[in-house]
Amino acid sequence: MTVVYEDHEDDAGTGIPVRRIRFTINGQKKIAEVEPRLLLAHLIRRGLGLTGTHMGCDTTNCGACTVLVDGRPVKSCTMLAVQADGREISTVEGLATASELHPLQEGFKEEHGLQCGFCTPGMMMAAKALLDENPDPTEEDVRWALSGNLCRCTGYQNIVKSVLWAADKLRAVPARGDDPPEPPDSPARGDTPAAPPTSQANNGQEG
Ligand code: FES
Ligand code: FES
Repeated sequence: MTVVYEDHEDDAGTGIPVRRIRFTINGQKKIAEVEPRLLLAHLIRRGLGLTGTHMGCDTTNCGACTVLVDGRPVKSCTMLAVQADGREISTVEGLATASELHPLQEGFKEEHGLQCGFCTPGMMMAAKALLDENPDPTEEDVRWALSGNLCRCTGYQNIVKSVLWAADKLRAVPARGDDPPEPPDSPARGDTPAAPPTSQANNGQEG
């Protein structure tokens, strides 16, 4: 576990109380001591150095600061860091592995879903929340899910295409960490081969 301290050089002796919080970010457990007024966006960017989470407006309008908290998209400029106590946070830095881009990142590359890129991390995190819940979204579903995110370069068309590209790819490949599906007729060593399924059977899979 890591301890993260806010570095306010001018706070000495002011008596501003701090709260200790524990949370998980991109799979890593952390402890931080934060002032109750600290925004989650500032904890992420300044405390943890994860500057992929952008801040565009500071007023819950643009969505550039969107992260996932317990899987739900949240504008981190309007959530206090203390509210993240006990929660699981995901930021754009958690999408890719060391060797592989996330399909959403690939989609934005393939479909030219970014121009200046400022809105892109927030768009991706809002899109991830959508695809986690709805792996086969319509274009309208994507537009609705991204309706809280603004692109100042106004390239919405390609952003929507990028998310649909990612949805197709995610449906085509097993999720990371999933075991590859068992071949249909490969009984474990020593097992009696199963009887061929009847027309009523569901091929051994639970409904
Ligand atoms: Fe949070 Fe714009 S910076 S919504
Ligand atoms: Fe520039 Fe969206 S790509 S703000």
